[in-house]
Amino acid sequence: MKNNNNPIALSVVGSHKNHEAVERPRGAGATGMAVLDRDYRIIWCNSCAQAHLGFAANGARHRLCGDSQLGAYLAAGDFSKPLQVEMSGGVLLAIELLPFIDSQWLLLSRDVSASAKLEAMRRNFVADTSHELRAPLCVLTGLVETMSELGPDPAREQEYLDLMGEQCKRMRNIVDGLLELSTLEAAPEARVEERINVTSLLSRLRAEAEVLSGGRHRIVLDAQPGFDLLGTERDITSALSNLVANAIRYTQPGGEVRIVWHASSRGAEFIVEDTGVGIDAKHIPLLTERFYRVQKASQGRRGTGGAGLGLAIVKAALTKHQAALEISSEAGKGSRFIARFPAQRVTPSASASSPVSSLAA
Ligand SMILES: Nc1ncnc2c1ncn2[C@@H]1O[C@H](COP(=O)(O)OP(=O)(O)O)[C@@H](O)[C@H]1O
Ligand SMILES: [Mg+2]
Repeated sequence: MKNNNNPIALSVVGSHKNHEAVERPRGAGATGMAVLDRDYRIIWCNSCAQAHLGFAANGARHRLCGDSQLGAYLAAGDFSKPLQVEMSGGVLLAIELLPFIDSQWLLLSRDVSASAKLEAMRRNFVADTSHELRAPLCVLTGLVETMSELGPDPAREQEYLDLMGEQCKRMRNIVDGLLELSTLEAAPEARVEERINVTSLLSRLRAEAEVLSGGRHRIVLDAQPGFDLLGTERDITSALSNLVANAIRYTQPGGEVRIVWHASSRGAEFIVEDTGVGIDAKHIPLLTERFYRVQKASQGRRGTGGAGLGLAIVKAALTKHQAALEISSEAGKGSRFIARFPAQRVTPSASASSPVSSLAA
């Protein structure tokens, strides 16, 4: 019978030979163990079970704190499935009861908070990803059905094919972005042995920006020569080109995009500034979340809707290099994205005639 208001009191009838102080279990994988008599009184328990379940080993009778669920579980007497109990501080415990010698019971407790959190993240991830893929898939399905119902209509065929191509591209962007993100998140910290030639990286970025802009923006490159970055070139290129692509994408024709690279008091900074549409303050803390877009792709002008993964990729790539991303913006006025690299990631360029000695400090 379940009675959450009247939990079973477990009493200590024997005590552990060491009456040690209750300590937190060492390591997430630690298992709490207790031997209970046939009436569920504690005969013995280890320190991990004490910490998990909140009872002290001083021999006195103790009610388990937060044990109403455990009380009901014991009263019900069905131990075929483990019990999950949320303890104070958001700790999630899995408790199992196994038959032991002489009609006693062995109680096992495990802290499953981390795996429950991971499982929740996995579920969110699957839900978000399917949601994002569903929209282009639905449009594509609709177009295929319309085309097959209408039969051959050369006048509209090209328009339909263009729309279908757009949706395929959207899906491909989502899949490519997710793959890149998962590779970055799984990878260890970037090695400091690889030198990135920032001058050549910046000139490639500028060329990319010119192509994306198609001459509709003024693109300014302001790079302080003499020092390079240490890290993984592919990741840094990806982060910086995402920032530059955003600046072009979210800036009206006639606007300006500035790409700046300079030494700072603590290392070096890469800045991308634009005079574009800007971002309302309430969105700024959320921008680096996967799939977050200020204007949803479905509401956006054709061609502006990205997958919403760009800034998540930027953040993951920068984190691998101990770099921080700072975003400042004002709606209607423009935005500034600063990637701050610490001094240990900055080195004088191989060709520099005057090494930037202050950076090595
Ligand atoms: N330079 C910028 N100016 C204005 N808004 C921006 C800028 N960069 C990013 N954003 C906003 O942040 C959102 C997230 O950016 P991002 O992760 O790159 O996704 P998207 O694929 O939509 O570009 C964008 O949808 C856009 O609303
Ligand atoms: Mg983007």
